[in-house]
Amino acid sequence: MEKVIGIDLGTTNSCVAIVENGTPVVIPNRGGYKTTPSMVAVTEAGKRLVGHIAKRQAITNAENTVYAAKRLIGRKWNSPQVKNAVATSSYRIVEGPHNDVRIVLRDKEFSVPEISAMVLQEMKVIAEDYLGETVSKAVVTVPAYFNDNQRQATKDAGEIAGLDVIRIINEPTAAALSYGFGRNIEKTVAVYDFGGGTFDISILEIGAHGVFKVIATAGDTFLGGEDVDARIIDWLVSGFKEEHGIDLRQDRMALQRLKDAAEKAKCELSSVRETEVNLPFIISSGRNEALHLQRTLTRQTLEELSDDLIERTVDICKQTLEDAKLGKDEVEEVVLVGGMTRMPKIQQSVQSFFEKEPNKGVHPDEVVALGAAIQGAALVDDKQEMVLLDVTPHALGIMTFGSYFEELIPQNTTVPTHRTKIFTTSRDNQTAVKILVMQGESQRAEENELLGEFILTGLRRAPKGQVEIEVTFEINADGIVSVRAKDLETGLEQSIQVTATSGLTKDEIKSMMENAKDDLVDRRTSEEFEAAKQEAEKLIGEIEKLFPQVQQIVASSDFGRDAIEKAKAIVDKARAAIEKRDAAAVKEQIEGLTRTHRMFKGVVAKT
Ligand SMILES: Nc1ncnc2c1ncn2[C@@H]1O[C@H](COP(=O)(O)OP(=O)(O)OP(=O)(O)O)[C@@H](O)[C@H]1O
Ligand SMILES: [Mg+2]
Repeated sequence: MEKVIGIDLGTTNSCVAIVENGTPVVIPNRGGYKTTPSMVAVTEAGKRLVGHIAKRQAITNAENTVYAAKRLIGRKWNSPQVKNAVATSSYRIVEGPHNDVRIVLRDKEFSVPEISAMVLQEMKVIAEDYLGETVSKAVVTVPAYFNDNQRQATKDAGEIAGLDVIRIINEPTAAALSYGFGRNIEKTVAVYDFGGGTFDISILEIGAHGVFKVIATAGDTFLGGEDVDARIIDWLVSGFKEEHGIDLRQDRMALQRLKDAAEKAKCELSSVRETEVNLPFIISSGRNEALHLQRTLTRQTLEELSDDLIERTVDICKQTLEDAKLGKDEVEEVVLVGGMTRMPKIQQSVQSFFEKEPNKGVHPDEVVALGAAIQGAALVDDKQEMVLLDVTPHALGIMTFGSYFEELIPQNTTVPTHRTKIFTTSRDNQTAVKILVMQGESQRAEENELLGEFILTGLRRAPKGQVEIEVTFEINADGIVSVRAKDLETGLEQSIQVTATSGLTKDEIKSMMENAKDDLVDRRTSEEFEAAKQEAEKLIGEIEKLFPQVQQIVASSDFGRDAIEKAKAIVDKARAAIEKRDAAAVKEQIEGLTRTHRMFKGVVAKT
């Protein structure tokens, strides 16, 4: 049977694993380490270095050493995340020809997938050395919250590295696979993954016979150990500036030394209460006098510096539980993944939020790669009993007339999946429609990520609303999206695999959206929706008018309070359905609104 490796392509560290004789194992690199820094460098002689050797020379070759490339993958040049990286990185990041990102190493420009490919290739070689044979198939992990562009770019990186990426899976899901593998448990678990660059949380049900079902997932692809390091660097830089009036950031080598020292101090403070940052000869004063940096950092200061970052992860956990419609007590186990979860404050915050001690039984650096290997083995071995049901982290839909975002696939839908909706033309004699494919959670189209566009032409001339267009979205098991639109009368069809727009500027996207306005489709359900909306809004108005009175009358009894809570919930649900412009959902709420209204009137009439 063909061997499939599992690769955790991390922001800071990467790890490769394989299933051998039914047991998943991490493959150590030549130095005996189980993880390899995700760093790439080019030396003065033009030699390419990857991993530990790249890390070792980072300080003396700061400008030509890339770290945390994963933060840039699949992103656009003018995104805030890229701006931030440009300002803080010791290597050079420049604009590519298609509003993409390029990294300059010794005057040569590399795309981000090319850089990631070097790391993937290194992992491939580590596996090949160990196995004594070539490996061509891999399962590669990505943060659960990665969008379509980021997933595609990761797949491209695999291809550049000469790997057939047979599946992309989400990191927390991989961690859960490894946690549950061979244990025959039935449990609801939360995986809290705080790594070097990204934060992810997933809630899963692990069922009998190897069923892993993700219920909800969320995260932040720009929240990780790197940000904690940046806080320490800021603290060191501003302290130094106060003392000497010199900005250490101007010096790339100093910056790289600071980064190293900051990370080291952070890691030390996971086991000791204070540590000294000591960087002799960090910079020259300009009067030919070398200056040193020496400061004591306490665990408490570190916790203050990173408090809001940790709080953000807790807020995301809270939201995810709500999305999963689960209470804290229903989560039976919390699994900690990622190097940052070694920080005591993070463990405490997780424990106090979930009200239970987190499980530390899995190896936070290795568990993701092990899960990827398990999935890889299962994909080529049909004897293995394992079913993985993941979800899409973002809602998907199209922009419709009036710049609304019309959702076709809601967030947290199990993938693979496909959904179809019928739209109509938005003006008379419209012979072409533009389908703008978007990903995001906002009802307003411009606030979401534009993934691509295509045009369906050759429509029959007819009054607006009379030509029907069927739009179908499909998400495959890698989480990658494709879309097609079909003229229901002629059967004419257009489709794209969504990758098209990663080369557009924000202005271009804006003008694209602006230009498309007249050619958009409209919701077919609009009349039906408007009618339902009017009825619901009328009922909500009446209920709200009676609210103060009813409250006064019934608030003294438990029953009354309960009834008021229920009424509020119904109104909220109806409002949400209106906001979503979902005709069916609004209609569903009308019944409850009518009942509530009748009851309120009854209460008021009795007194
Ligand atoms: N003992 C420790 N205390 C605090 N932080 C630590 C410790 N050990 C490692 N870290 C931090 O964990 C982070 C790396 O974690 P990990 O290797 O899980 O990330 P990654 O998988 O490379 O990144 P991501 O999953 O976000 O892409 C780094 O920021 C590192 O400094
Ligand atoms: Mg990771």
